[in-house]
Amino acid sequence: MRAIVHDVYGTPDVLRLDEIDQPVPGRGEVLLRVRAAGVDQGVWHLMAGMPYAIRAAGFGLRAPKRRVRGLDVAGRVEAVGPDVTRFRPGDEVYGTCTGSFAQYACAKEEELAPRPARLTPEQAAVVTISGCTALQALRAGRLKSGGRVLVIGASGGVGTYAVQLAKALGAAHVTGVCSASKADLVRSLGADEVVDYACEDPTDGVHRYDLVLDIAGNRPLHRLRRALTPRGTLVMVGGETDGRWLGGYHRQLWALLLSPFVRQQLRGLASTPNPEDLRALGEFIESGSLTPALDRTYPLAEVPDAVRRLRSGHARGKIAISL
Ligand SMILES: NC(=O)c1ccc[n+]([C@@H]2O[C@H](COP(=O)([O-])OP(=O)(O)OC[C@H]3O[C@@H](n4cnc5c(N)ncnc54)[C@H](OP(=O)(O)O)[C@@H]3O)[C@@H](O)[C@H]2O)c1
Repeated sequence: MRAIVHDVYGTPDVLRLDEIDQPVPGRGEVLLRVRAAGVDQGVWHLMAGMPYAIRAAGFGLRAPKRRVRGLDVAGRVEAVGPDVTRFRPGDEVYGTCTGSFAQYACAKEEELAPRPARLTPEQAAVVTISGCTALQALRAGRLKSGGRVLVIGASGGVGTYAVQLAKALGAAHVTGVCSASKADLVRSLGADEVVDYACEDPTDGVHRYDLVLDIAGNRPLHRLRRALTPRGTLVMVGGETDGRWLGGYHRQLWALLLSPFVRQQLRGLASTPNPEDLRALGEFIESGSLTPALDRTYPLAEVPDAVRRLRSGHARGKIAISL
């Protein structure tokens, strides 16, 4: 089968199309004929082996342990391994797997759900990682109906879900922060207000929010706190930096240390896709209150270009690979 593989960490140039053996589903796994795969910042981190903490976390110190990249997936169940009870051949599913940039991939059955009828495979393939992250961030922030929410990084993979989910969960007012060229997108997702980070500092303390989701921008903790109400909650999701060891995650550690001593709640987030959240996202999608913001699709051979577009910052929402 054809797959995108790499044997060393590096830039998108290390990714190449190759012929490799088709995987065989193990106990509790299904074999998927991949229809589409999602591209997210995690793909870049595992390709680059950066920050180094990722390598130490078991992905391979000197070289990637797994050659095929790609986690988000939508596909058709081709075969099932022993003990699989929820799916059978022919089912159309979405979720996460190991190595979705390939014609076939194996996935644990608990990492999959039936593909919502409203979504194309490409749309479904970009839901799980970013959608679960957004949902878990809003829950960690104890979003209350009627609250005011600030989403920093609202036009990206996680942010486009966070804006829609915040409204669907009852936020009274959602402010999205992004570049001017993507303000229309963020407004179309339901944001009540959009702030261009190049012209205005959303953390200048003029406006205060019950919940701040810091998905991007790498603002220091003391500035993010200025945007919070006295008992507001900050959830630090991410932020791309060139920090070689921890990336931007030292800010999350600071938040954890400081939080017990202040009235505001300061939290980091390490999201994990799970079947309950996948089901919850599916319900939002079926009800029409959540729609993936799909930027572009690329064929399998052009995964390196897809990753380059993601890192260029030009994508409006999510990027998919179509097989
Ligand atoms: N904690 C977790 O479990 C978890 C899970 C998933 C992702 N993440 C991390 O979350 C981060 C975001 O992921 P993503 O997929 O949403 O990335 P993305 O698709 O690249 O989106 C980045 C967003 O940040 C915005 N942005 C860029 N510079 C900014 C600035 N100075 N101020 C405010 N916003 C700015 C971009 O706006 P424009 O494009 O309009 O410039 C865009 O909306 C990444 O670091 C990723 O690794 C963490």
